[in-house]
This record gives sequence, structure tokens and C-alpha cells, in this order.
Amino acid sequence: MDVTTGPGSSVAGLDLFLDRAGGRVRNSVMDAIRDAIRSGRLVPGTRLPSSRALSADLGVARNTVARAYAELIAEGWLTSQHGSSTVVSPRTAEAIRSIAAPPRRRAARLLDHDLRPGHPDLSSFPRAAWSRAVKRALDAAPSEAFGYADPHGRPELRLALAQYLARARGVRARPCNIVVCCGAAEGLRLVAGALTDGGVAAVAVEAFGLSTQWASLTRTGLRCPPLTVDSDGADVRALENMADVGGVLLTPSHQFPLGVSLHSDRRAGVIDWARRTGGVIIEDDYDGEFRYDRRPVGALHGGDPERVIYMGTVSKSLAPGLRLGWLVLPERLVDAVVRQKGETEETSGFVEQLAMAEFIVSGSYDRHIRTMRAQYRRRREQLVVAVARSSPKSTVAGMPAGLQVVLELAGGDESALVRQLGWRQLGVQGLDFFRHPEVDDERDGLVIGFAAPAPSAWSAALDALTGLLP
Ligand SMILES: Cc1ncc(COP(=O)(O)O)c(C=O)c1O
Repeated sequence: MDVTTGPGSSVAGLDLFLDRAGGRVRNSVMDAIRDAIRSGRLVPGTRLPSSRALSADLGVARNTVARAYAELIAEGWLTSQHGSSTVVSPRTAEAIRSIAAPPRRRAARLLDHDLRPGHPDLSSFPRAAWSRAVKRALDAAPSEAFGYADPHGRPELRLALAQYLARARGVRARPCNIVVCCGAAEGLRLVAGALTDGGVAAVAVEAFGLSTQWASLTRTGLRCPPLTVDSDGADVRALENMADVGGVLLTPSHQFPLGVSLHSDRRAGVIDWARRTGGVIIEDDYDGEFRYDRRPVGALHGGDPERVIYMGTVSKSLAPGLRLGWLVLPERLVDAVVRQKGETEETSGFVEQLAMAEFIVSGSYDRHIRTMRAQYRRRREQLVVAVARSSPKSTVAGMPAGLQVVLELAGGDESALVRQLGWRQLGVQGLDFFRHPEVDDERDGLVIGFAAPAPSAWSAALDALTGLLP
């Protein structure tokens, strides 16, 4: 016999879904609660319904539930709090942690020193300011915001972004050209789908970059031939000889991971290529806020908003866990990109979007970026000095910007060093990890993220790194 209770069967108290097998009632209640705890469905600290409410829901005697609770308390599954409510015991936390599947990019918790490139300092997330923004956003949200949503994204956020991007990044965007997405990752998937639907066969990419991005392009059937990268950025002149290429994915402000910026001649050149051929440039401005010299590079988008798709994200400036990003699209591509999402918004929730709009408009976003910029600039300078002292033959390459540097090794063996650093629990990656499979550029280097450690962990991480460099 399968007896379950569910929402709606009691009007007072908490809902609890119990999948109860047959047999003696008290035993079946106990078994169902144990199973729910074991599987992680009821986590430590979860408050259970009162015995009165649960007995009414299950249609059994109140005493039966009260005795089941008492026995589970005696066994350590539950505890009784303040003499009234019954909660899942915190002692089950360990057991449940061992069941929970680790998230895929997890290494962070296992590392003694997290120097993985591209990860911001999560301990500095502006919790208080963000909470205020969430509260204000929720208080002011119209009822309509709680319903199925327009896949373009919330108008409040698109308006705030249009103003912010114009002011801070030189992006000429109108709210109607902005599409909110679940991080740059979703943005690129949407663009790849729209380009493929529009008949594009190939999108050129930089010879060093994120393999996840190449994968999301190839998944839709696009080919991704590589462009070599030198000290002037991606060599976009090669596009002239790539007849079937209809788009190019670039990180022009700060090449990921090599750290160079796209030379002004090449910026002009790639825009000229796009105009002549009808091609499109996808500008991944993943860390454009973090430039530490006094010559901020504006987005390539300003060069021709009808030929450039601008892709932004909060993953470096705030936190990747928010899953918030945006596309600024040429007029002709807006519908094709939005169509990839379907009829209604299915990925981005309205609370984060409205909170982000509030966060920008209130000035909190600028304040946070300024704080983090100062912190990251200091760290980069300390890293350069420490490497020069401990490993004078190695060179920190790339311009003063972003969240990572490339350490060019003087005759060092990249893969051996990465392995050695890994054994010492230092999360650093070698350039090889970012190399396009069709490229035979053999340069060696370590890609070191200097942003991820909490302020209290930074100097130990730096010491550990420089202590191990050849
Ligand atoms: C080059 C580059 N682009 C974009 C992103 C951000 O992606 P998302 O917004 O999906 O977190 C990253 C983050 O790792 C990155 O390194």
C-alpha cells in the first residue's frame, strides 16, 4: 500500500510528503522519515510538522505519530527543539554530505591554495548591499513580475544595463537590443543557435581560450577554426582566407588567458572584415571592468554595434553563482537569438534580474567594482614583485588587467610543474589546458588566477606558489 500526504491535506502547519509503505503504521511512518533523511530530501535542521498536523494529514492517531517522533529522537534522527518543534538532527549532516554528489568544477574545496584562473574572490561578495537590493527589488516588483516572463529579460535590468554599459564600457546599447541570459555561457549557446539557424557554418576562435566555449559552438554544428594569438591579440587578418567563416569569437579587451589586448589596427581590421563579408563579431567582455592602468580599453562594440555582439557577465565582477549575463545584439539578430529561448523565459529568474537592476542604479555595482579593482590591482603587483624575486628567469606576461596572469617559464616544463603544484594542492593551470586542439603553438606557461583566495588566504597562497616555482 502506498499512502502519501501532500500539500492541501491540512490547513495548519507544515507540509510533509511521506512515501509510506504498508505494514504497522508507526513503523511505516518511521521508515518513511528515515528514508527521506537518508536520501537528503529532509536536510539537517528541517522542521517537521507537529504530530497533530501530521496525524491529521495521514489519517492516523496522533499518538502514533508522537511515538514515531519519540523513537526517531531516541535513535538520533530527530531532535526536539525548545520543547516544541521537532527537527531533523544536525548529527545527520555528515552522513548526508557523504551522499551528496560533488559539483563538477569543484576542486576549490580540496585545494589548499585556490589560484585557478578566472575565479573571483567569493568571500568579498557584497552580501549586505545585495540583500538590500533584493529586498528593495522585491518590495517594488509589480505583480506581473511573478508570472511567466518575456524571454528578453526584465525591462528594468535592460534599461539599467544600457545606461551602465554606455557609461562604463562605451557600449552603445538600447534596452531593446539587450537580452538577459544565464551567464555568458548561455549567451554563447543562444548566439550559436541563432547563427546556425541563419546558415553560418563556422565561427573562428582564438588559439587559446575556453574549451567549453568551443564545445558550445560545435554542439550546434559550427566549425571553430583557430586564429593565432600574438602580442597584438588574435591575428584577425587570417579571416580573409577563411571563406566559410561567418563569425569570430574574441576577447578583445583582455585576451583569455594570454592577457594581451587587441591592437587598434586589428580592431579596425576585424570590423572592416565583418562589414565587407556580412560576418559577425562576438565580443566576450568577461572581465572588462578590471583594468589597472589608466588607459581603459573601451569595448570593440562601440566600433560598429550592427556588426558586434557584445557579451557581458557578472561572473568576474560579482559572482558566477548568480548566473547573470547579457547580450547586446545587432538589431537584425535580436529575434533570432530570443527565439532560441522559446516562448517564455525558462532560465533567468526575476528576483536576481530586478536585484541586479537595483544594484546598478543605486551605485552599489560601481562601488563593489572599485573595491575589487583596488584589491586585485594590489595582488597583481604583489605577484609580479614576488615572482621577480623568487624566479627571476620567469616573466609575468600580459597587461595589467583582469583576474589572471600568464607566467612564462624560462625553460621550465609546464606539465611537470602543473602536476607538482597540484600535488601541493595549488590550483594552477598550464597554458596547454587552454590550447585549441588544431594549434601547434608550443609556448609554455602557467595561468595563475590571483583573485580567488579570500584576503586572509592570499599571502599564504602567494608564498606557496613562489616557493615552488623553478
Ligand atoms: C573567457 C571567459 N568568458 C566568459 C566567462 C564567464 O562565463 P559565465 O558568465 O557563463 O560564468 C568566463 C568564465 O570563466 C571566461 O573565462
